[in-house]
Amino acid sequence: MAHEVRGVVAPSVGEPVLVETVVVPDPGAGEVLVRVQACGVCHTDLHYREGAISDDFPFLLGHEAAGVVEAVGDDVAGVAPGDFVVIAWRAPCGTCRSCLKGRPWYCFDSRNAAQKSTLIDGTPLSAALGIGAFVEVTLVAAGQAVPVPRVRPETAGLLGCGVMAGLGAALNTGGVGRGDTVAVFGCGGVGDAAIAGAVMAGARRVIAVDVEERKLAWAREFGATDTVNARETDPVEAIKSLTGGFGVDVAIEAVGRPETMLQAFYARDLAGTLVQVGVPAPTMNVEIPMLEFFGRGGALKPSWYGDCLPTRDFPALIDLYLAGRLDLDRFVSETIALDDVEEAFARMQRGEVLRSVVVF
Ligand SMILES: NC(=O)c1ccc[n+]([C@@H]2O[C@H](COP(=O)([O-])OP(=O)(O)OC[C@H]3O[C@@H](n4cnc5c(N)ncnc54)[C@H](O)[C@@H]3O)[C@@H](O)[C@H]2O)c1
Ligand SMILES: [Zn+2]
Ligand SMILES: [Zn+2]
Repeated sequence: MAHEVRGVVAPSVGEPVLVETVVVPDPGAGEVLVRVQACGVCHTDLHYREGAISDDFPFLLGHEAAGVVEAVGDDVAGVAPGDFVVIAWRAPCGTCRSCLKGRPWYCFDSRNAAQKSTLIDGTPLSAALGIGAFVEVTLVAAGQAVPVPRVRPETAGLLGCGVMAGLGAALNTGGVGRGDTVAVFGCGGVGDAAIAGAVMAGARRVIAVDVEERKLAWAREFGATDTVNARETDPVEAIKSLTGGFGVDVAIEAVGRPETMLQAFYARDLAGTLVQVGVPAPTMNVEIPMLEFFGRGGALKPSWYGDCLPTRDFPALIDLYLAGRLDLDRFVSETIALDDVEEAFARMQRGEVLRSVVVF
């Protein structure tokens, strides 16, 4: 029997979100129904509401969630009712050409639930990042529900997107190593996780760049050794002067704008790596002289979900958290109710929070 529950829906481009009754089907083959306990507000949800990701309105928002498996469909192995899970927006299929090459973190055919949730009048909802978790129960593909040790759901859920993306941008995509210098552009939840990842990897200098002093103060708490306010100072010049005139080994862009991508490109040392984890809008372009691209060497690397492997990385990161080696709680600025998501978007835009997390 389908479930009628409350969920946060983006009705059309730029319109405020609404809390609506959502009809969630029972799990079919290969699907899992999760009772959501917490779901963080990520900037990507706002990108959806703004129409910057796709035109497939209405959207069921929310994708940074943890909860407990309520029911499983046929042909589901590895996860059972009662399991505490973090929901992943990429679930490697095991059979696409990338999985078969042994690179499941790039999986080209990641799985989602086959059935769609709907509004009460039957209008199908597009689930943000194939999840849709600002809702009391959500339906996902079995591989998206990743069992982890039981901790506070508002903390665990953040691994489902922003914190994993940032940690992975530094650790997996950027391959930050001991003694490296790193710059992170944008110190929201994603950027601060990249800072924490760079510190964990042994970077000797981690330079945080943002346009809000409050964000720079938080970045220092995550281990940034230096901060640059890009509203007051040219960040490329500042980063060069902090690195003996050379630039950094790894520059991580966690805003999703052309100007910060270019700054990250030019803030690198020779043979340095640019990691692009911020999500651009379809209209954005950058222009780079070919000689600068060639002459500087190194690598320009987009980072999808921090190139993570959820089944490997989620439980491992929770273990680091439990051992006191990764302060995930610091990302949770506030817990809010389902009705407060629109206000949380405004607080995010005003730079007042790292993560607002809906708790159920
Ligand atoms: N690649 C992925 O898998 C992935 C996953 C999650 C989020 N994202 C993306 O990462 C980006 C950051 O997400 P978030 O949730 O941390 O957002 P956020 O809004 O919390 O943080 C963005 C930060 O960028 C800062 N900023 C804005 N303009 C700037 C500028 N010109 N220079 C320096 N800093 C500037 C803001 O002050 C803010 O602190 C978004 O584009 C989001 O969609 C990507
Ligand atoms: Zn695959
Ligand atoms: Zn996200």
